[in-house]
Amino acid sequence: MPDFIEPALLLSLRDITKIYTIGDQEVHALDGVDLDIYHGEFVAIMGPSGSGKSTLLNIIGCLDAPSGGSYELDGIDVSEMDETEQAHVRNQRIGFVFQGFNLLPRTTALKNVELPLLYGHRKDLTEVATAALEKVGLGDRLYHKSSQLSGGQQQRVAIARALSMNPPLILADEPTGNLATKQSEEIMGIFQQVNNEG
Ligand SMILES: Nc1ncnc2c1ncn2[C@@H]1O[C@H](COP(=O)(O)OP(=O)(O)OP(=O)(O)O)[C@@H](O)[C@H]1O
Ligand SMILES: [Mg+2]
Repeated sequence: MPDFIEPALLLSLRDITKIYTIGDQEVHALDGVDLDIYHGEFVAIMGPSGSGKSTLLNIIGCLDAPSGGSYELDGIDVSEMDETEQAHVRNQRIGFVFQGFNLLPRTTALKNVELPLLYGHRKDLTEVATAALEKVGLGDRLYHKSSQLSGGQQQRVAIARALSMNPPLILADEPTGNLATKQSEEIMGIFQQVNNEG
């Protein structure tokens, strides 16, 4: 018996292209991307502005379709799915954290985190959402509305929301882009902690 466990492949992109056409202008935003990511990995995608990072994340997150190439997530061929199936994959397998937090402003932290659980038809939503908020250090802010939280706290709510369905994949597009240095370090620390805890 081997004394190590081989990590399982989480996602696999092959020769992914994305061409945007605006009028008679074609933008080759992605030009043949191959990428494998394994369960438990913590990966950063870096590159200059306009190099296609957001385009790639949107494709990995099933928010946009590639122009060509293949994409498998957890052994499922995502490129062949229709929109309803992709929405299901997003809800069950992917948590999103965006630069602008994307929370409902006049809604409490708890309700914001409960939302994906509601779509996922979880019955224990309040307990699960509370646990996710406690995990990011917001156990004492459950009933604050997003608009009553600091930027760093709002991003922590967004992370709790991404964690709530316990997805194998969390995608974050410049999650610290709107935050000051100290808050940014806190947010990256939380991602690191979440990754370490599996
Ligand atoms: N919806 C769109 N329609 C047309 N062109 C687009 C669209 N979205 C992005 N592009 C173009 O595709 C290229 C890649 O854009 P993308 O947003 O992926 O870059 P990025 O690496 O995320 O940049 P940044 O660091 O500034 O966020 C850019 O040249 C951009 O102008
Ligand atoms: Mg971007």
